[in-house]
Amino acid sequence: MSNQKTAVVTGGAQGIGFAISKKLAAAECKVIIIDIDESRAASAAGKLNGDYKIVDVSKEVEVEKAVSEIIEKYSKIDILINNAGITRDGLLIRMKEKDFDSVIDINLKGVFNFSKEVVKKSMMKNRTGAIVNIASIVGIIGNPGQLNYSASKGGVIAMTRTMAKELSNRNIRVNAVAPGFIQTRMTDKLSDKVKESFLENIPMHRLGNPEEVAAVVNFLVSQRSSYITGQVINIDGGLVMA
Ligand SMILES: NC(=O)c1ccc[n+]([C@@H]2O[C@H](COP(=O)([O-])OP(=O)(O)OC[C@H]3O[C@@H](n4cnc5c(N)ncnc54)[C@H](O)[C@@H]3O)[C@@H](O)[C@H]2O)c1
Repeated sequence: MSNQKTAVVTGGAQGIGFAISKKLAAAECKVIIIDIDESRAASAAGKLNGDYKIVDVSKEVEVEKAVSEIIEKYSKIDILINNAGITRDGLLIRMKEKDFDSVIDINLKGVFNFSKEVVKKSMMKNRTGAIVNIASIVGIIGNPGQLNYSASKGGVIAMTRTMAKELSNRNIRVNAVAPGFIQTRMTDKLSDKVKESFLENIPMHRLGNPEEVAAVVNFLVSQRSSYITGQVINIDGGLVMA
C-alpha cells in the first residue's frame, strides 16, 4: 500500500472545500474531490494533480458506488472531509418542506452517507483514519432565517461526537470545525444588511477566508493533533466564545 495519504473532500470544487483540497494536496495527499458541479470539480482536481467524482452526497447509492471505486483505485481512504453543504434560508413559518428536507439531506445525511461508507470499507479495516466535519457556528448559537441549516449543523456536531466515541478504539479520530462568516459564494448571497449586522458582532470585525478554515482542518487530520477527537473548533474571529 502506498505511503501517500488518500483524502476525500466532499463539495471540494470551490469555496472552503477547494481551499481544504489545496492545503491537503500541498501536504502531499492524493485528493479526490466529490461534487455535483462537473466543470468546477474537473478544473479543481486538475489544478491539484488530484481526481474527482460526480456524486450527490445525499444519495446513498451514489456514495456507495463512489467509495468502492475510490478504494479500488487508490486502495484506501485515510482522510475524509465532510464539507458539502447548501443553504435554503427562510423563517420557520414560511419555510417550505422541500427546503427543509434538501438542507437536511445534503448537510446532515450526506455526512452520515460518506462517513458510513468510508469507515466501513476502509478506515476500520486499516485501523486508522481522520474525519473532519464542516459544521457552522449557527449549529451552536442558532440564526434567525436558518432553521433548517442550523438544525443540520447542530446535527453534524452531535454526529461528530458520537462517531468519535464509536470509532476511537479503531484509531479513527473525528472532529468538526464551526466556521463563522467566511467569504465564499455561499456568503456572497447574503444581503449587505445581514453582513453588516454580523460584522458588528465579530470581535475581529472582518470575515474569515477559506484558507483560515483549511489551515485548522489540515491540523486536525495531521499527527500534530493525534490526541484530539470529538472536538468542535470555532473559526469565527471570536464571534462565539464558550
Ligand atoms: N461560507 C461560510 O461562511 C460558511 C460558514 C460556516 C459553515 N460553512 C460550511 O462550509 C461548507 C462549504 O461552504 P462554502 O461556503 O465553501 O460553500 P460553496 O457553496 O462555495 O461550496 C459548496 C460546494 O458543495 C457542493 N455541493 C452542494 N451540494 C452538493 C451535493 N448534494 N453533493 C456534493 N456536493 C455538493 C457545491 O457544488 C459546491 O462546490 C458547507 O458545509 C457550509 O455549510 C460555510
